[in-house]
Amino acid sequence: MELQRLGPGSAFPEWMEALDLELFGDSWRILVDGEVALLAPGRAFAVWRANVPAEEAELLRIAVHPAHRRAGLAAALLQASERDLRGEGIRTLLLEVRVSNAAARALYVAEGWREAGLRKAYYKDGEDAACYLKALGQDAGPGTGNR
Ligand SMILES: CC(C)(COP(=O)(O)OP(=O)(O)OC[C@H]1O[C@@H](n2cnc3c(N)ncnc32)[C@H](O)[C@@H]1OP(=O)(O)O)[C@@H](O)C(=O)NCCC(=O)NCCS
Repeated sequence: MELQRLGPGSAFPEWMEALDLELFGDSWRILVDGEVALLAPGRAFAVWRANVPAEEAELLRIAVHPAHRRAGLAAALLQASERDLRGEGIRTLLLEVRVSNAAARALYVAEGWREAGLRKAYYKDGEDAACYLKALGQDAGPGTGNR
């Protein structure tokens, strides 16, 4: 699958901003320092904030157009993001999700994320967030594995 990567300073393409607004009611429209997005153009995107010194990255948003769901797009975006972020030296992935978001929670579990507690009243409307973590394994590529 052809995925596109956007880095800091990139504006969201029109379809991405429209999907963001439709699903979440807002869109931050331009990526700032540390933020990267992976896109399946016209269909899906994932936005991350990487903290390279801390070797951590947070999944800020993942969205698939309703017409393209349950076709493996979100899973593919997460897997591609992991490869990309691991290459940047990221070791731990984090996210928060509304406790009511059963589809997203099922996705994270299917992709090997581990539930790591609740944040009470995390959202403006008072809903709790479930926190998930994923540790990225060692890269098997050259130059790793030596102590
Ligand atoms: C959550 C979301 C990103 C999933 O995208 P998707 O492309 O449909 O997910 P995938 O097809 O890659 O699903 C991979 C696996 O996740 C799980 N899953 C995904 N959607 C599911 C659903 N609605 N119900 C149950 N399990 C689901 C399944 O295990 C699925 O594998 P399967 O289809 O073989 O059973 C999509 O529903 C979405 O955009 N929701 C609105 C935005 C949102 O809530 N984002 C998360 C918070 S930022």
